Amino acid sequence: MMTELFHRVARPAILAVSRSDGLRRTAERLPVTRQVVHRFVPGESVADAMNSVEQLRYSGRLVSIDYLGEDVTDVDTANVTVDAYTTLLDALATRSEAAGTVRPLEVSLKLSALGQALPRDGEKIALENAHAICERAQRAGVWVTVDAEDHTTTDATLSIVRELRADFDWLGTVLQSYLKRTHADCEEFAASGARIRLCKGAYEEPASVAYRDGDDVTDSYLRCLRVLMAGTGYPMVASHDPEIIAAVPAMARENGRAVDDFEYQMLYGIRDGEQLRLAEDGNRVRVYVPFGTQWYGYFVRRLAERPANLTFFLRALAERRH
Ligand code: FDA
Repeated sequence: MMTELFHRVARPAILAVSRSDGLRRTAERLPVTRQVVHRFVPGESVADAMNSVEQLRYSGRLVSIDYLGEDVTDVDTANVTVDAYTTLLDALATRSEAAGTVRPLEVSLKLSALGQALPRDGEKIALENAHAICERAQRAGVWVTVDAEDHTTTDATLSIVRELRADFDWLGTVLQSYLKRTHADCEEFAASGARIRLCKGAYEEPASVAYRDGDDVTDSYLRCLRVLMAGTGYPMVASHDPEIIAAVPAMARENGRAVDDFEYQMLYGIRDGEQLRLAEDGNRVRVYVPFGTQWYGYFVRRLAERPANLTFFLRALAERRH
C-alpha cells in the first residue's frame, strides 16, 4: 500500500526534480549528498571507475561502465563525452582480459550525452560520435550497449542502433518493459540476434505510452523476457526484482539456454549480496558502474525507485543539521 502510494505520488514529483537545474546545483554543493551518492556512484574519475572494475572482476562479476551525463545541449560538451569514453576505453584496453564470446568489459552510453537532442543534425552527430566510440571499443576488446532514455527518444535511438549494428553486430541496446511498444521491439531485436538489456524503465512516462502500475510493468517484463529467451540473441536481465530473478532459470531451461547464454545485470551498490550469490551459483552477472561529475539525474532516478533510498538520503540530511 505504502509502496503503491510512493510510486503513484512521490515518484513523479521526485523525477520532476531530476530535470531542475537549480536543485541540481544545490544538491551538488551539499557534502552529505556526495556521501549518499557514493552508495550508487563509486567516484568521479576514470581511476575511481577502474578501481571498481578491479574489485568487481576480482569477485567474478562482469562490468558495464557508464560515463555519467545526459541531455547535452552543445557540440563541445558532446565532444567532451566522446573524449571521456576514449580515455576510459584506453584504460580498459590495458587490462588483459581473455577475449571469449562474451566480453567481461563493456561501456554503456546515452545518445543524449553524445548530442542526440541538438537542434540541427543532432541524430547525425550522435550517430557519428557513437560510431567513433564503437570503433575504439572494438579495438579495446570491449562491448558497447546503448542506454534507453525517455520515450520521445526511443524511435531515434533504435534507428541509430540499427545503423550501428550494421558495422558492429555485437552492439547491444536497452529496452524498457514499461513501454507498451517494447514487446514488438523485443520481437524485432530477438529475431536479429541482438544483445538486449531488458529493464523496467526509470523515467516518468504518460499512460498513453507506458504501463504505470507496478504489477503491469512486471507482467510486461516477463512477457518481453520470454520473447528474448526464445529468440536468437543474447538476453541481459537487468533487474533487482526477486520475482523476475526467480522466473529466469525455468524460462532459460524451457528455451534450451545454458547459464552462459544470457546474463543477469544489476546497478552498482544495489543488492550486492544477491549479485554475489548469483555469480557464485555459476551465473553471469554484470554490474552497471556509473562514474563522473554529472551524477545528479542518475542519483535522483535511484531515489525515485525506492522509498528506502529516499528515506536514507533524507535521514542523512537531517543528521547533518543536528
Ligand atoms: P523494482 O524497482 O521493482 O525493484 C525490485 C526490488 O529491487 C526492490 O524491492 C528492491 O529490493 C530492489 N531495488 C530496486 N531498486 C533499488 C534501489 N534503487 N535501491 C535499492 N534496492 C532496489 N532504466 C532506463 O530507463 N534506461 C536504461 O538504460 C536503464 N539501464 C539499466 C541498466 C541496468 C544494468 C539496470 C539494472 C537497470 C537499468 N535501468 C535503466 C533502471 C531500470 O529501468 C529500473 O529503474 C531499476 O532497475 C529498478 O527496477 P527493478 O527491475 O530493479 O525493479
